[in-house]
Formats: sequence, C-alpha cells, structure tokens
Amino acid sequence: MDFSIRDASLDDLDSILKIEVSAFPHPWSRSQFLDEMALPYARLWVLTDDETDQIVAAYLCFRLQAEACSVLTVAVGNEYRGQGHAEKLLRKMIAWVVREEYPQILLEVRASNRAAQGLYEKIGFHKDATRKRFYSDGEDAFVYVLKTSDAPAELQ
Ligand SMILES: CC(C)(COP(=O)(O)OP(=O)(O)OC[C@H]1O[C@@H](n2cnc3c(N)ncnc32)[C@H](O)[C@@H]1OP(=O)(O)O)[C@@H](O)C(=O)NCCC(=O)NCCS
Repeated sequence: MDFSIRDASLDDLDSILKIEVSAFPHPWSRSQFLDEMALPYARLWVLTDDETDQIVAAYLCFRLQAEACSVLTVAVGNEYRGQGHAEKLLRKMIAWVVREEYPQILLEVRASNRAAQGLYEKIGFHKDATRKRFYSDGEDAFVYVLKTSDAPAELQ
C-alpha cells in the first residue's frame, strides 16, 4: 500500500484519536487536536493510503514559532509501525522548516521511549538536555534538537 501526507481534516479526527489512545498513556483529547487545528501557526498532518485516502496510518503535529519549530506529537498506528512512516512525516516537516528558514526544531521525548529516541537520532536530532520529572507521572523528558543548518543534506 502506498501512503501520502496531507493536512488533517475534521473527518480524520476519529482515526487520529484511535491511534492516540493506543499510543500514549495520557492521550490528547479531541478538543486538544481541534485547538491545534485552529492555530494559524500549528500544523496537523496525516499520512493516508493513496487508494482510498481514508486509512490514517500516522499523524504529526507541530508548531512554528519565531525561535523554533516544536514537534508536539507524532504517532503511527500499531499495524503500520516499522515501515518508515514516522520518518517520512518528520523528513517532510524538516524540509518544510528548512525552506521557511526556522533555525531549529525542538521536541521532548519520554526517557523510556527508546523507539522515538531511535527515530529522532536516525534523522539527525541530538539529545540536548534532560527535564527532570517533566511528565505528570514523574518521568523525565529528554529534549532533542535539530539545528536546520545541520539537517540532512537532501533536505536542505
Ligand atoms: C515512535 C514511532 C512514532 C515510530 O514510528 P514508525 O513509523 O514505526 O518508525 P519508522 O518505521 O519511521 O522508523 C524509523 C527509525 O526509527 C527508529 N525506530 C523505530 N521504531 C523503533 C523501535 N521500536 N526501537 C528502536 N528504534 C526504532 C529506527 O531507527 C528506525 O529506522 P530503521 O527502520 O532503519 O531501523 C512509533 O513507534 C509510535 O507511534 N510510537 C508510539 C507514539 C510515540 O511514542 N510517539 C513519539 C512521542 S515523542
């Protein structure tokens, strides 16, 4: 199956929420996604199948603010993991951020989330800091940074 990336629409929200609740211990609510979709400086992208455009395999939400692009959330449905979908979403975001001339991309990731850390490191992010007890359950966050000047050459 081939997949492409587009802006999320309201019709995608049920599928996004289904992935969200299975992916995170403290999932975002529908209204949190709606809030992000309404912000002019936020983007919510989905990766859907080319044939029907109805199967949402993954999504990515990020904000573009003066000093940086911040990744808020990225998740892939269980049955679609390990196929490069998260990497595809992030690479498209990086290329866009480079074009828009934002200096860096920032994100936080749970200290226990090795899969996500592996993903970010593969794409060129580096661990910049630890935020102690950042999450409401007391887990630390690692802050990952990618300076756009250090983005992979093919995305510059
Ligand atoms: C983390 C997550 C988004 C990865 O999505 P994915 O589409 O399966 O990842 P990809 O197939 O694009 O993998 C790209 C790279 O990420 C790394 N990676 C992905 N899954 C990994 C795992 N389980 N363990 C270690 N590294 C992993 C690898 O470097 C991989 O490259 P490779 O296939 O050449 O080894 C997915 O597991 C997920 O949705 N997890 C739950 C939500 C979550 O934790 N989101 C991140 C919040 S910060």
